[in-house]
Amino acid sequence: MKFKKHNILYLNLAQLIQEAIQKSTDDLALNLDQIYLLLSTPPKKDMGDVAFACFGLAKALKKSPAQIAQDLLECLNESRLVLKSKNFGPYLNFYINPAEFNKIILDEILSESFFKSSLVEIAPKTTIEYSQPNTHKELHVGHMRNMCLGNAIVNLYRYVGIETHATTFPGDVGTHVAKCLWYYKKYNTEQPPTIRQGAWLGKLYTKANLKLEDEKGSENEEKNRAELTAILKQLHDENGEYYTLWQETKKWSLTLMQEVYAWANITFDSWYWESDVDSTSVALINKYFEKGLFIKDQGAIGIDLSDDKLGFCLLLKSDGTGLYATKDLELARRKFEDQDIEKSIYVVDNRQSLHFKQVFKTLEKMGFENAKNCFHLQYEMVELPDGAMSSRKGNIVPIQKLIDEMVTKIKIDYLNKYVGDWHTCEIDTVANQVAAGAIKYGMTRIDSNKKIVFDMDEWLKLDGESGPYIQYVHARINSLVSKIKRDPEIQFELLTHELESDLILKLSKFNTIIENCVTNNKTHPLCSYLYELAKAFNSFYAECSVLKAETHELVQARTALADGVAIIIRNGLSLLGIDAPKKM
Ligand code: ARG
Repeated sequence: MKFKKHNILYLNLAQLIQEAIQKSTDDLALNLDQIYLLLSTPPKKDMGDVAFACFGLAKALKKSPAQIAQDLLECLNESRLVLKSKNFGPYLNFYINPAEFNKIILDEILSESFFKSSLVEIAPKTTIEYSQPNTHKELHVGHMRNMCLGNAIVNLYRYVGIETHATTFPGDVGTHVAKCLWYYKKYNTEQPPTIRQGAWLGKLYTKANLKLEDEKGSENEEKNRAELTAILKQLHDENGEYYTLWQETKKWSLTLMQEVYAWANITFDSWYWESDVDSTSVALINKYFEKGLFIKDQGAIGIDLSDDKLGFCLLLKSDGTGLYATKDLELARRKFEDQDIEKSIYVVDNRQSLHFKQVFKTLEKMGFENAKNCFHLQYEMVELPDGAMSSRKGNIVPIQKLIDEMVTKIKIDYLNKYVGDWHTCEIDTVANQVAAGAIKYGMTRIDSNKKIVFDMDEWLKLDGESGPYIQYVHARINSLVSKIKRDPEIQFELLTHELESDLILKLSKFNTIIENCVTNNKTHPLCSYLYELAKAFNSFYAECSVLKAETHELVQARTALADGVAIIIRNGLSLLGIDAPKKM
């Protein structure tokens, strides 16, 4: 993947530096791309707006970086973009001329052309698989992390111009299904509800587990195991009463998933089911066994990955049935072949890290050229303030219940004051947008390597780092901006206050932040950026009067700046899958 030099400021400065290098020596030493990459933000405001690190030139020019910074300073051409330049040790720093810079940036943002062009030069066609819950279990807050993270990554990839296919792979077969159906047929006495059957079914799964656990060591243990095996056999053979029940109940889980996806505004370009790849995955293993790649040990087939320190990966049991890894090999084959993709990302929690290492290594040995472009995007668990969640044990927060509770709380805390003023369905829409803002921001703002502690009150706060806080700042700006009719020509050069320059510089960095997110497959840099931006806007607004600025021209320029902030917030939130209500 290669990004374009899309930062206008950096590109201009890189050209300026290149000219200076040419002037100061005959040696070209660095090309434009390299110079561009050596630009950064100085550690302190009074050291300028952009810094160029001269270390990279030292070898070629046989001079100390500090000497180079000094020499380049003398060779710099005039530029309308630069107010002043100064060397700080090995760095050459630039102070930007707001008159020039403000106009370039704000024109682009206000016309939204800033968001339109592709940021990548070359990028592999990518598939991103995320949100692969198991059927017959209840969806809970923990599943939200995957959903929010995966969806944001897809949005970010598409935003920068990468052709991206979003897919999912729900687990509709396996022991968890057998356990749930076993309990359903043998012990359940309740009528299934008429709505939200999926959630109800998930509760049976928990009850099944508790019962099985309870009977461990009792005379029933053996019998239970035999019954589960018989159920799994029916599901495998695709006949019998359990198979019929499986077909029916799978639809309930699917409806649950679809309701949540609809709420979260998530869509997939394709769906793979574990049950779909099951039988062909066995054939795939047999084919490669014939080719001599796999080994047979006491009737079972697998691959020895001990040379790669990945142990032995079992692929077919002695009864000829496959395992989880087996299905993943077939799934990967289909993704490569059906969609002709080059890069494949799997958003799955970090407990499956060894599994994916084994799968990717096996794919490589099977000769899949793009196996090296498979990537496990791992993330840590979500915990409740009192510890880990587990649907097996039943201490979970079901998604639908959580959404209902949040929406109710948002109405009570923030929106009920508008009853009578706003239409009821408007209140409903905004309450749901804020709930989604709280959940999606909360789930994406933490580095994926770190645990999240879910805390509804914290996530809904309007005065801390939360989605609703940023949505609120956006809504305030929106109401401010709507009060002023904008002139066709704005004098952006009037925006010279330190807090104004600071805001504009922040705005200009939006695409660079996105580039960073995509390069590292992370969402939290965008989250902190939006939070910092919202805070910076509040500081500016507290200090610089907008509506009551001294002159008409300044009112106009500040309103335009505020609008620019709102536009960036709106676009940034939308990449996180969050709507920005006009009012709240
Ligand atoms: N359904 C699995 C689970 O809940 C996750 C599937 C992940 N994707 C994959 N290709 N293995 O653990």
